Amino acid sequence: MDAIHIERLCKTFNNGRKALDSVDLNVGEGEMVALIGASGSGKSTLLRHIAGFTASDPAPSHVTLLGRPIQQNGKVAREVRSIRRDVAFVFQQFNLVGRLTVRTNVLIGALSRVPLWRRLIGRFPRAEQELAAASLSAMGIADHINERASTLSGGQQQRAALARALVQRARIVLADEPIASLDPESSRRVMGLLQSLNEDHGLTVVVSLHQIDIAMKYCARTVALRNGCVVYDGPSASLTPALLRELYGAAAEELLTDTTIDSDTDADTGPAQHTRVRQVERAAAHVEAASTRAAAFASVASS
Ligand SMILES: Nc1ncnc2c1ncn2[C@@H]1O[C@H](COP(=O)(O)OP(=O)(O)OP(=O)(O)O)[C@@H](O)[C@H]1O
Ligand SMILES: [Mg+2]
Repeated sequence: MDAIHIERLCKTFNNGRKALDSVDLNVGEGEMVALIGASGSGKSTLLRHIAGFTASDPAPSHVTLLGRPIQQNGKVAREVRSIRRDVAFVFQQFNLVGRLTVRTNVLIGALSRVPLWRRLIGRFPRAEQELAAASLSAMGIADHINERASTLSGGQQQRAALARALVQRARIVLADEPIASLDPESSRRVMGLLQSLNEDHGLTVVVSLHQIDIAMKYCARTVALRNGCVVYDGPSASLTPALLRELYGAAAEELLTDTTIDSDTDADTGPAQHTRVRQVERAAAHVEAASTRAAAFASVASS
Protein backbone atom coordinates (compact mmCIF):
# COMPACT_ATOMS: atom_id res chain seq x y z
CA MET A 1 0.00 0.00 0.00
CA ASP A 2 1.16 3.54 -0.72
CA ALA A 3 1.70 5.74 2.30
CA ILE A 4 0.78 8.75 0.16
CA HIS A 5 -1.19 8.68 -3.08
CA ILE A 6 -1.98 11.93 -4.87
CA GLU A 7 -3.80 12.41 -8.16
CA ARG A 8 -4.34 15.61 -10.16
CA LEU A 9 -3.95 17.92 -7.18
CA CYS A 10 -4.43 21.60 -8.07
CA LYS A 11 -4.46 24.66 -5.85
CA THR A 12 -5.24 28.19 -6.94
CA PHE A 13 -5.13 30.82 -4.21
CA ASN A 14 -7.65 33.68 -4.05
CA ASN A 15 -5.15 36.02 -5.67
CA GLY A 16 -5.23 33.78 -8.76
CA ARG A 17 -1.84 32.25 -8.04
CA LYS A 18 -1.67 28.60 -9.13
CA ALA A 19 0.49 27.04 -6.41
CA LEU A 20 -0.11 23.38 -7.38
CA ASP A 21 -0.67 22.34 -10.95
CA SER A 22 -2.03 18.81 -11.40
CA VAL A 23 0.37 17.06 -9.05
CA ASP A 24 0.50 13.26 -9.21
CA LEU A 25 2.64 11.56 -6.59
CA ASN A 26 2.97 8.16 -4.92
CA VAL A 27 5.16 7.54 -1.91
CA GLY A 28 5.49 3.94 -0.75
CA GLU A 29 5.43 2.95 2.91
CA GLY A 30 8.93 3.16 4.35
CA GLU A 31 10.31 5.56 1.73
CA MET A 32 12.25 8.73 2.54
CA VAL A 33 11.68 11.33 -0.16
CA ALA A 34 13.11 14.82 -0.55
CA LEU A 35 10.91 17.59 -1.91
CA ILE A 36 12.97 20.32 -3.48
CA GLY A 37 12.27 23.47 -5.44
CA ALA A 38 13.09 27.14 -5.46
CA SER A 39 11.26 29.50 -3.12
CA GLY A 40 7.59 29.71 -4.13
CA SER A 41 7.62 26.44 -6.10
CA GLY A 42 4.86 24.96 -3.90
CA LYS A 43 6.66 22.68 -1.40
CA SER A 44 4.85 23.93 1.71
CA THR A 45 1.54 24.09 -0.13
CA LEU A 46 1.89 20.46 -1.21
CA LEU A 47 2.82 19.27 2.29
CA ARG A 48 -0.11 21.19 3.79
CA HIS A 49 -2.48 19.54 1.31
CA ILE A 50 -1.10 16.09 2.15
CA ALA A 51 -1.81 16.75 5.84
CA GLY A 52 -5.30 18.02 5.04
CA PHE A 53 -4.62 21.49 6.47
CA THR A 54 -5.68 23.05 3.16
CA ALA A 55 -8.34 22.03 0.63
CA SER A 56 -7.46 21.83 -3.05
CA ASP A 57 -9.39 23.33 -5.95
CA PRO A 58 -12.85 21.80 -6.38
CA ALA A 59 -11.79 19.71 -9.38
CA PRO A 60 -11.46 15.91 -9.59
CA SER A 61 -8.47 15.04 -7.40
CA HIS A 62 -7.58 13.06 -4.35
CA VAL A 63 -5.02 12.66 -1.61
CA THR A 64 -5.01 9.29 0.15
CA LEU A 65 -2.89 8.43 3.18
CA LEU A 66 -2.36 4.75 3.98
CA GLY A 67 -5.47 3.92 2.00
CA ARG A 68 -7.73 6.55 3.60
CA PRO A 69 -8.77 9.61 1.55
CA ILE A 70 -7.84 12.76 3.50
CA GLN A 71 -9.21 15.03 0.78
CA GLN A 72 -11.03 14.60 -2.51
CA ASN A 73 -12.25 17.01 -5.18
CA GLY A 74 -11.54 20.06 -3.02
CA LYS A 75 -13.13 18.73 0.17
CA VAL A 76 -11.19 17.71 3.26
CA ALA A 77 -12.52 14.41 4.69
CA ARG A 78 -14.73 14.50 7.74
CA GLU A 79 -12.41 11.94 9.35
CA VAL A 80 -9.39 14.24 8.88
CA ARG A 81 -8.49 14.22 12.58
CA SER A 82 -8.48 10.48 12.80
CA ILE A 83 -6.42 10.13 9.58
CA ARG A 84 -4.00 12.78 10.81
CA ARG A 85 -3.14 10.70 13.87
CA ASP A 86 -0.86 8.78 11.55
CA VAL A 87 0.86 11.96 10.38
CA ALA A 88 3.44 14.06 12.22
CA PHE A 89 4.10 17.49 10.73
CA VAL A 90 7.53 18.92 11.53
CA PHE A 91 7.96 22.65 11.03
CA GLN A 92 10.97 24.84 10.34
CA GLN A 93 10.13 26.74 13.54
CA PHE A 94 9.89 23.57 15.73
CA ASN A 95 6.43 24.39 17.15
CA LEU A 96 7.07 23.49 20.77
CA VAL A 97 5.35 25.32 23.60
CA GLY A 98 8.22 27.22 25.19
CA ARG A 99 6.82 27.49 28.71
CA LEU A 100 6.12 23.76 29.00
CA THR A 101 8.71 21.09 29.75
CA VAL A 102 10.21 18.97 27.03
CA ARG A 103 8.37 15.99 28.57
CA THR A 104 4.95 17.65 28.26
CA ASN A 105 5.69 18.87 24.74
CA VAL A 106 6.54 15.37 23.67
CA LEU A 107 3.54 13.87 25.48
CA ILE A 108 1.29 16.18 23.47
CA GLY A 109 1.91 13.60 20.72
CA ALA A 110 -0.02 11.06 22.83
CA LEU A 111 -3.00 13.34 23.56
CA SER A 112 -5.35 11.66 21.13
CA ARG A 113 -4.89 8.34 22.98
CA VAL A 114 -5.34 9.73 26.48
CA PRO A 115 -8.83 9.85 28.02
CA LEU A 116 -10.23 13.30 28.75
CA TRP A 117 -10.20 12.84 32.55
CA ARG A 118 -6.47 12.13 32.47
CA ARG A 119 -5.87 15.17 30.29
CA LEU A 120 -7.84 17.30 32.73
CA ILE A 121 -5.68 16.27 35.68
CA GLY A 122 -2.54 16.38 33.55
CA ARG A 123 -1.55 12.77 34.27
CA PHE A 124 -0.39 10.69 31.38
CA PRO A 125 -0.42 6.88 31.75
CA ARG A 126 2.88 5.28 32.73
CA ALA A 127 3.22 3.57 29.33
CA GLU A 128 3.02 6.97 27.58
CA GLN A 129 5.53 8.47 30.03
CA GLU A 130 7.90 5.62 29.30
CA LEU A 131 7.42 6.01 25.56
CA ALA A 132 8.18 9.73 25.90
CA ALA A 133 11.39 9.04 27.80
CA ALA A 134 12.46 6.34 25.33
CA SER A 135 11.72 8.61 22.36
CA LEU A 136 13.74 11.48 23.83
CA SER A 137 16.51 9.01 24.45
CA ALA A 138 16.37 7.81 20.84
CA MET A 139 16.66 11.43 19.70
CA GLY A 140 19.61 11.99 22.06
CA ILE A 141 18.03 14.58 24.36
CA ALA A 142 16.90 12.53 27.37
CA ASP A 143 18.96 14.81 29.63
CA HIS A 144 16.65 17.74 28.87
CA ILE A 145 13.35 16.03 29.66
CA ASN A 146 12.52 18.27 32.64
CA GLU A 147 13.66 21.55 31.11
CA ARG A 148 11.41 24.15 29.62
CA ALA A 149 11.37 23.84 25.84
CA SER A 150 12.29 27.53 25.49
CA THR A 151 15.67 26.90 27.12
CA LEU A 152 16.73 24.37 24.45
CA SER A 153 18.79 25.21 21.38
CA GLY A 154 17.07 25.12 17.99
CA GLY A 155 18.59 21.74 17.17
CA GLN A 156 17.47 20.28 20.50
CA GLN A 157 13.96 21.67 19.99
CA GLN A 158 13.77 20.07 16.58
CA ARG A 159 14.94 16.77 18.06
CA ALA A 160 12.16 17.06 20.66
CA ALA A 161 9.71 17.62 17.79
CA LEU A 162 10.95 14.37 16.21
CA ALA A 163 10.57 12.59 19.56
CA ARG A 164 6.97 13.87 19.63
CA ALA A 165 6.41 12.18 16.25
CA LEU A 166 7.52 8.88 17.83
CA VAL A 167 5.26 9.39 20.86
CA GLN A 168 2.40 10.12 18.48
CA ARG A 169 3.18 6.74 16.88
CA ALA A 170 2.92 8.49 13.55
CA ARG A 171 3.50 6.42 10.42
CA ILE A 172 4.19 9.35 8.12
CA VAL A 173 6.41 12.37 8.84
CA LEU A 174 5.95 15.49 6.75
CA ALA A 175 8.85 17.83 7.48
CA ASP A 176 8.73 21.31 5.96
CA GLU A 177 12.29 22.65 5.84
CA PRO A 178 13.15 21.19 9.24
CA ILE A 179 16.77 22.35 9.08
CA ALA A 180 16.34 25.81 7.56
CA SER A 181 16.80 27.54 10.93
CA LEU A 182 19.64 25.34 12.19
CA ASP A 183 23.43 25.54 12.23
CA PRO A 184 25.37 22.94 10.20
CA GLU A 185 26.05 20.55 13.09
CA SER A 186 22.40 20.56 14.23
CA SER A 187 21.25 20.20 10.63
CA ARG A 188 23.38 17.10 10.22
CA ARG A 189 22.05 15.67 13.44
CA VAL A 190 18.39 16.36 12.63
CA MET A 191 18.71 14.91 9.11
CA GLY A 192 20.43 11.83 10.59
CA LEU A 193 17.59 11.44 13.08
CA LEU A 194 14.95 11.80 10.36
CA GLN A 195 16.81 9.05 8.56
CA SER A 196 16.70 6.96 11.73
CA LEU A 197 12.92 7.50 12.04
CA ASN A 198 12.75 6.13 8.51
CA GLU A 199 15.23 3.27 8.71
CA ASP A 200 15.02 2.17 12.35
CA HIS A 201 11.40 3.00 13.15
CA GLY A 202 9.87 2.35 9.70
CA LEU A 203 8.25 5.76 9.25
CA THR A 204 7.61 7.17 5.80
CA VAL A 205 9.31 10.57 5.50
CA VAL A 206 8.75 13.42 3.07
CA VAL A 207 11.10 16.30 3.77
CA SER A 208 11.22 19.61 1.93
CA LEU A 209 14.67 21.07 1.53
CA HIS A 210 16.33 23.95 -0.22
CA GLN A 211 19.65 22.27 -0.88
CA ILE A 212 20.07 19.45 -3.35
CA ASP A 213 23.28 18.19 -1.73
CA ILE A 214 21.39 17.37 1.46
CA ALA A 215 18.62 15.66 -0.50
CA MET A 216 21.30 13.54 -2.18
CA LYS A 217 22.99 12.65 1.07
CA TYR A 218 19.91 11.54 3.01
CA CYS A 219 17.17 10.63 0.50
CA ALA A 220 17.36 8.05 -2.27
CA ARG A 221 14.51 9.74 -4.13
CA THR A 222 13.85 13.39 -4.88
CA VAL A 223 10.72 15.07 -6.17
CA ALA A 224 11.39 18.49 -7.67
CA LEU A 225 8.71 21.15 -8.02
CA ARG A 226 8.68 24.19 -10.26
CA ASN A 227 5.70 26.57 -10.33
CA GLY A 228 3.54 23.91 -8.67
CA CYS A 229 4.41 21.18 -11.21
CA VAL A 230 6.45 18.04 -10.55
CA VAL A 231 9.36 18.48 -12.98
CA TYR A 232 11.47 15.58 -11.71
CA ASP A 233 10.74 12.44 -9.70
CA GLY A 234 13.54 9.92 -9.48
CA PRO A 235 16.88 9.03 -7.94
CA SER A 236 18.45 11.95 -6.07
CA ALA A 237 21.83 10.92 -7.46
CA SER A 238 20.72 11.68 -11.01
CA LEU A 239 19.96 15.32 -10.21
CA THR A 240 23.21 16.75 -11.51
CA PRO A 241 23.90 20.49 -11.51
CA ALA A 242 23.44 20.41 -15.31
CA LEU A 243 19.97 18.83 -14.98
CA LEU A 244 19.02 21.28 -12.23
CA ARG A 245 20.02 24.20 -14.47
CA GLU A 246 17.95 22.70 -17.26
CA LEU A 247 14.95 22.38 -14.91
CA TYR A 248 15.26 25.68 -13.06
CA GLY A 249 17.42 28.01 -15.16
CA ALA A 250 18.89 30.79 -13.02
CA ALA A 251 16.86 29.67 -9.98
CA ALA A 252 18.99 26.49 -9.85
CA GLU A 253 21.72 28.43 -8.04
CA GLU A 254 19.38 28.74 -5.03
CA LEU A 255 19.38 24.94 -4.77
CA LEU A 256 23.07 24.47 -5.46
CA THR A 257 24.83 27.17 -3.47
CA ASP A 258 23.99 26.82 0.22
CA THR A 259 26.01 23.79 1.32
CA THR A 260 26.15 24.89 4.96
CA ILE A 261 25.52 21.38 6.30
CA ASP A 262 28.91 20.16 5.17
CA SER A 263 31.00 23.25 5.74
CA ASP A 264 31.09 24.17 9.40
CA THR A 265 34.32 26.12 9.01
CA ASP A 266 32.71 29.26 7.56
CA ALA A 267 29.57 28.94 9.63
CA ASP A 268 29.89 32.26 11.41
CA THR A 269 30.51 34.58 8.50
CA GLY A 270 29.48 35.27 4.94
CA PRO A 271 26.20 35.47 3.07
CA ALA A 272 25.04 32.01 4.18
CA GLN A 273 25.17 33.15 7.78
CA HIS A 274 23.24 36.34 6.96
CA THR A 275 20.58 34.26 5.26
CA ARG A 276 20.43 32.04 8.30
CA VAL A 277 20.10 34.99 10.65
CA ARG A 278 17.19 36.30 8.57
CA GLN A 279 15.61 32.85 8.57
CA VAL A 280 16.01 32.57 12.33
CA GLU A 281 14.43 35.99 12.84
CA ARG A 282 11.52 35.02 10.62
CA ALA A 283 11.21 31.71 12.45
CA ALA A 284 11.18 33.46 15.83
CA ALA A 285 8.14 35.48 14.77
CA HIS A 286 6.39 32.29 13.67
CA VAL A 287 7.23 30.49 16.92
CA GLU A 288 5.57 33.28 18.86
CA ALA A 289 2.33 32.92 16.91
CA ALA A 290 2.43 29.12 16.82
CA SER A 291 3.24 28.86 20.52
CA THR A 292 0.23 30.97 21.44
CA ARG A 293 -2.02 28.63 19.48
CA ALA A 294 -0.34 25.50 20.83
CA ALA A 295 -0.38 26.82 24.41
CA ALA A 296 -4.15 27.18 24.30
CA PHE A 297 -4.31 23.57 23.14
CA ALA A 298 -1.78 22.29 25.63
CA SER A 299 -3.33 24.08 28.61
CA VAL A 300 -5.89 21.28 28.56
CA ALA A 301 -3.08 18.85 29.22
CA SER A 302 -1.26 20.82 31.86
CA SER A 303 -4.06 22.50 33.83
N1 LIG B 1 -2.09 31.61 1.59
C1 LIG B 1 -1.64 31.97 0.38
N2 LIG B 1 -2.27 32.91 -0.35
C2 LIG B 1 -1.84 33.25 -1.58
N3 LIG B 1 -0.75 32.72 -2.17
C3 LIG B 1 -0.07 31.79 -1.49
C4 LIG B 1 -0.47 31.37 -0.18
N4 LIG B 1 0.42 30.42 0.25
C5 LIG B 1 1.31 30.28 -0.75
N5 LIG B 1 1.03 31.09 -1.78
C6 LIG B 1 1.76 31.18 -3.05
O1 LIG B 1 1.85 29.87 -3.58
C7 LIG B 1 3.13 29.65 -4.14
C8 LIG B 1 3.79 28.45 -3.47
O2 LIG B 1 4.11 28.81 -2.13
P1 LIG B 1 4.81 27.81 -1.11
O3 LIG B 1 4.85 28.50 0.19
O4 LIG B 1 4.13 26.51 -1.19
O5 LIG B 1 6.27 27.69 -1.74
P2 LIG B 1 7.56 26.99 -1.15
O6 LIG B 1 8.12 26.13 -2.22
O7 LIG B 1 7.23 26.35 0.15
O8 LIG B 1 8.53 28.23 -0.94
P3 LIG B 1 9.67 28.48 0.18
O9 LIG B 1 10.87 27.69 -0.27
O10 LIG B 1 9.92 29.94 0.12
O11 LIG B 1 9.14 28.02 1.51
C9 LIG B 1 3.90 30.95 -3.96
O12 LIG B 1 3.79 31.70 -5.13
C10 LIG B 1 3.18 31.63 -2.84
O13 LIG B 1 3.29 33.03 -2.95
MG1 LIG C 1 7.87 26.63 2.10
